[in-house]
Amino acid sequence: MSRARLNDVSPRQLSALAAESLAGPALLLDHELRVLWASPGVERLLGEPVARGALAPKVLCGDAVERPIAEALAAGRAVTGTVHRPYGDRLRSIRVRATPLRDEDGAEGWLLLLSAHETPEPDDPNAPVFFHGMWTRDPAMKQMFHVMQRAARRDVPVLVRGETGAGKELVARAVHALSPRHRGPFKAINCAALPPTLLESELFGHTRGAFTGALRDHPGIFRAADRGTLFLDEIAEMPLDLQAKLLRVLETHTVIPVGATDPIAVDVRVVAATHQSLRRAVEAGRFRADLMYRLRVVPIFLPPLRARRGDVALLTERMVGALNEAGERQVNQVSPGALKALTRYAWPGNVRELRNALEYAFVIGEGLVLTEADLPPEMTSPDPDEPLQTALVNAPPVSDAQGEAGKIARALERTSGNRARAAKILGMSRVTLWRRMVALGLIAPEASQD
Ligand SMILES: Nc1ncnc2c1ncn2[C@@H]1O[C@H](COP(=O)(O)OP(=O)(O)OP(=O)(O)O)[C@@H](O)[C@H]1O
Ligand SMILES: [Mg+2]
Repeated sequence: MSRARLNDVSPRQLSALAAESLAGPALLLDHELRVLWASPGVERLLGEPVARGALAPKVLCGDAVERPIAEALAAGRAVTGTVHRPYGDRLRSIRVRATPLRDEDGAEGWLLLLSAHETPEPDDPNAPVFFHGMWTRDPAMKQMFHVMQRAARRDVPVLVRGETGAGKELVARAVHALSPRHRGPFKAINCAALPPTLLESELFGHTRGAFTGALRDHPGIFRAADRGTLFLDEIAEMPLDLQAKLLRVLETHTVIPVGATDPIAVDVRVVAATHQSLRRAVEAGRFRADLMYRLRVVPIFLPPLRARRGDVALLTERMVGALNEAGERQVNQVSPGALKALTRYAWPGNVRELRNALEYAFVIGEGLVLTEADLPPEMTSPDPDEPLQTALVNAPPVSDAQGEAGKIARALERTSGNRARAAKILGMSRVTLWRRMVALGLIAPEASQD
């Protein structure tokens, strides 16, 4: 470094340079967590340049939902943590040691020291990783992350197969975020949620007057996703005639809005998802084989939660942490019985159902320990050897009347007596809640159902 440049360097920057020579790549942040200075090694480590003024949590954790480092920094605490970032075709764990800096004027900043090792930690295939909003310690999931990373870089269609609530949309968003299109839009549409005629104009657009009610031109979601990624959820539900039109769009890279004659060019990468086998839909004559081949250039199979039981404890821990932050109840331990029940349960609704179950437990239970009694009844089937499905059908909503009355009372307390909302929390209809309340003697049978 020349003397002239050295003169421009503040003592703070010099200290950061010193830090790199002593301790490796370093970032210096101001009190708003903006990058004041990054040592040259940081760019090499992160695989991208770090702009002065960029927010460090964003730089380190990206758009991830869980941001362990970000949270500690925001709280002003010294912290050592690990963030997981894609690096080439692998995941790289970056250890971050953050130290708050204070001088006598109280001016605050941060020194972050970074170090990296490739993940998964080679000796521990079960180490937890966090990847674009997804926590897992499951080897099959980690393998899936590799496939996603490789596929994302190429502009090929990806087909995600997975059960409801397993994280298909997260996978689609991750593929977009990892792709060269990440600055473009990400649009999603559920092909099962709309009647066929509406689906067609939502997808491809329509012209003014194309049908009754078409008061103005509508571009359609393909054009809205131009230069980005379009997520076609529940693709197997798409009617056959629309499948033919979709195939044409994918082959010609043009759409023809309903009511129009001229094709319009679109530049869209498609990620489709299905909970059922497309191959079987093809065999049943409900899905076009040519479209299936077109869409599943890279098939990604997302394992259901029950096939990765090790993830239940990990996800529970992370979600309990997030719910603690919401502040309604503080839980510092999940009892072994509760964890056993959660791990044993079949999770037909997968990760979403787990989150709902924990939300339920936070509302229904009290105290620092989350116990089995706090869980929704279907998770605590009375006989562990009884197959879960029969248990679900045969078990009364709650076997223990006193426990049930307590749960209902607490749900009503939380909702200030609003029975519709209480019923929702309890996972039953309003009428069922009313019936249970009558059966338990909480209200008289002639009480109104509202
Ligand atoms: N591995 C994971 N780690 C943390 N959160 C997850 C994980 N997988 C899924 N989730 C969360 O679970 C919920 C359901 O995920 P998502 O919406 O992606 O599922 P889906 O497969 O698209 O479901 P559906 O078929 O019902 O549309 C979301 O809130 C998501 O953030
Ligand atoms: Mg979804």
